[in-house]
Amino acid sequence: MLVEVVDNYEKLSDRAAEVVIQQIREKPDSTLGFATGGTPKGLYNRLIEAHEESGLDFSKLTTFNLDEYVGLPPEHEQSYARYMWSTLFNHVNVTESQVHIPHGMAEDVNSHCQWYERRIEEAGGIDLQILGIGANGHIAFNEPGSSLGSRTRIKTLASKTVRDNARYFEDQDMVPEYAITMGVGTIMEADEVLLLASGERKAEAMKKTLEGHITAMTPASMVQMHRFAHVVIDEEAASELDYQHHHGIVEPKDE
Ligand code: F6R
Repeated sequence: MLVEVVDNYEKLSDRAAEVVIQQIREKPDSTLGFATGGTPKGLYNRLIEAHEESGLDFSKLTTFNLDEYVGLPPEHEQSYARYMWSTLFNHVNVTESQVHIPHGMAEDVNSHCQWYERRIEEAGGIDLQILGIGANGHIAFNEPGSSLGSRTRIKTLASKTVRDNARYFEDQDMVPEYAITMGVGTIMEADEVLLLASGERKAEAMKKTLEGHITAMTPASMVQMHRFAHVVIDEEAASELDYQHHHGIVEPKDE
C-alpha cells in the first residue's frame, strides 16, 4: 500500500488531482471509477480547473460511479447522478454515453446490477477507482458485515450512514434506506484504488483500515489485499494511526 499523509484537505485534493490527471494524460481512454460525498469535491474542482485552464480531455473516458440511492430518480436534487453532473460532468467535456451510474429507479434491481457488472467488464475493467470511506469503515455502500467478495447489488444502509447522509437532505423523510452499490469484490478488481479520507471523523476508520485486521466489519480494510492501493489522507484522518506510513514502509512512530 502506498499511504501518503498530507497536511490538510486542500493538500489532499491537490494530491488526488495529480494522480487522476496523470492517469487521464497517460491513458486518455481510461475507465475511471468515481465516488460522491464531501471528500472528492476538492478533487473534482481541480479536475474542472485542469479542463478549463489546460484542456484536460475527458471525451475518451468511460466512467462508472460506485453507488446510487434506491428510490431517487437521476434528476432528484439528492441523487448521486445529479451530484456527479452538477459537481463534475457538466463542467467538463463528458457526454451521457460515457457515464454509468446505477439507476435508483430501476424496475428490476437485480438485473440492473448484473447489467452494471457486465458493462464494467465490457469496458475492460476500471483503471483507477476513487474511493471515500464512511466513519464506520464502509466503502461505496458496503456497510460493515458486507461480504468482501460482494458484487454490485442492493444494500440496506446502516443506520449510522443514514444519519451521516441526513445532512445532505432537507426533507428528512426522503433520506434513503437502500442503495445500489458496487461490491467490495467489484471495487477490488480495479487496477488501482485511490482511497481519500479527511478529518478526525474518519480517524478511527482509517486506523482499522490500515492497521487492523482485514475484516468484513471494516470493508475498507480490504484495500490491504489490493495489488495497488494508493491511500491519501490528511493529518486529522491519520491522527489515530499507531505507525508512520511512508513510501510504502510502515514504522513505529518514534523511530
Ligand atoms: C459515495 C460513497 C461513500 C462515501 C463515504 C464518505 O459514492 O461511496 O462510501 O465515499 O460515505 O462520504 P464523505 O466523503 O461525504 O465523508
